[in-house]
Amino acid sequence: MSVPVTGADYLVRAAVQKLESLRAAGMTHLPKPPAVVSSVIPVVQAAPVAPSETMPKKSSAPSEKPIPSGPAAALAEIQKRVAACTRCAELASTRTQTVFGAGNPQARLVFLGEAPGADEDRQGEPFVGRAGKLLTDIIEKGMGLKRSDVYICNILRCRPPGNRNPLPVEAANCREYLDAQLAIIQPEFICCLGSIAAHNLLGETTPIGKLRGRFLDYQGIKVLCTYHPAYVLRNPPAKKQVWEDIQILMAEMGLEVPNKKG
Ligand code: URA
Repeated sequence: MSVPVTGADYLVRAAVQKLESLRAAGMTHLPKPPAVVSSVIPVVQAAPVAPSETMPKKSSAPSEKPIPSGPAAALAEIQKRVAACTRCAELASTRTQTVFGAGNPQARLVFLGEAPGADEDRQGEPFVGRAGKLLTDIIEKGMGLKRSDVYICNILRCRPPGNRNPLPVEAANCREYLDAQLAIIQPEFICCLGSIAAHNLLGETTPIGKLRGRFLDYQGIKVLCTYHPAYVLRNPPAKKQVWEDIQILMAEMGLEVPNKKG
């Protein structure tokens, strides 16, 4: 089995997975994409094959720096493309910066939200506002993990003005980046936060209240949907259901509920 070692390899694999999912969905040929939507995968230059991220490049010159490769470098490559993205003219002209994603490049678990808000747009990191604080509590106090153990990203990488919902065309424009991130990270689990994340990832329209609380499949990844933390802030009783969902996720991941006293 060939092991991908460069950002280009991961992107190729993301493209292959995308094509396979389109074929599985019944598509027999691809329409010619508009020029503006073609920039992620086709323009990737073949990167030199390098040893692993941490392994220094074999060299007779001891001071030479290791060539970065592996998931972190592959994500950094995509992040550069995202930072320059202008596919969605309105978002590109109103954002302060793009919000790519944050966390462990080899996380078992990816949390998928909707889109950056004002705080995320300012800081360049997902889920750092009030809803983010609640998500961090769920991860750290609820699951007993560190925020940096998981990976957090969104359907969109730009803030929609006034925090409006992402438009379908915006989600479609950003999808290739999400697919590439998932192909690089190869998580075992995705936790969709709210209906926008769930519907866009899964191509679903079932209400979130009916999707939550059980595992769904996305390309072999176990997906658990729950309510968005912002919804929980507006509707505190939903916290109980989110905790039920998170416990289902933890059980499948083999995680124990942390001892509050310890
Ligand atoms: N809400 C989201 O869905 N994502 C963020 O990054 C912040 C708030």
